[in-house]
Amino acid sequence: MRAVRISVVLAALCLVAVTMVRSQPATQQVPYPEGYRQWTHVKSMVIQQGHPLYDAFGGIHHIYANAQAMQGYRSGGKFPDGAVIVFDLLEARSEGGALVEGQRKVVGVMVKDSRRYAQTGGWGFEGFKGDTRERVVTDAKSQCFDCHAAQKATDYVFSRYRP
Ligand code: HEC
Repeated sequence: MRAVRISVVLAALCLVAVTMVRSQPATQQVPYPEGYRQWTHVKSMVIQQGHPLYDAFGGIHHIYANAQAMQGYRSGGKFPDGAVIVFDLLEARSEGGALVEGQRKVVGVMVKDSRRYAQTGGWGFEGFKGDTRERVVTDAKSQCFDCHAAQKATDYVFSRYRP
């Protein structure tokens, strides 16, 4: 009798475990980086027509890092868990001989959590459309990580911080 009871309990535990594994993708969602405009500005760049990445990344972008990400930039190598980097992409408009910021196109985000995002170098990738919270990344590996993979030596981060 006792053996039966134990196996019922074990079966129930297994069910819970399976459910937890199944629901993992929801817990992998990268949160919107609230307040990133108050973080450290790492660098900016203008990607103009003629650049190979113009279609996806054309415009002015600014890169921001939270405190943990700044540790990674300063070390020149590994970024600790909790690091968040934002790629804030705006339209670029020519105006009287100046290139000025237009509408926000996308807020690209990288979040470091080496366990949760082990499949993509320890980084979660997401993009939020314009000024909304609408998610644009459907496959982080093919849309983001496969290109960032080239930067393995600097923990998959392309940009450098200039003090
Ligand atoms: C074809 C290559 C390529 C793809 C695809 C790509 N990126 Fe990047 N990404 C770059 C480059 C190059 C930089 C550096 C830009 C700079 O130095 O200003 C960068 C920079 C970044 C940064 C700042 C941290 C860093 O690595 O410098 C974030 C955040 C980012 N990308 C997010 C994303 C997200 C999210 C996606 C998928 C939607 C994505 N990227 C897809 C090439 C790519």
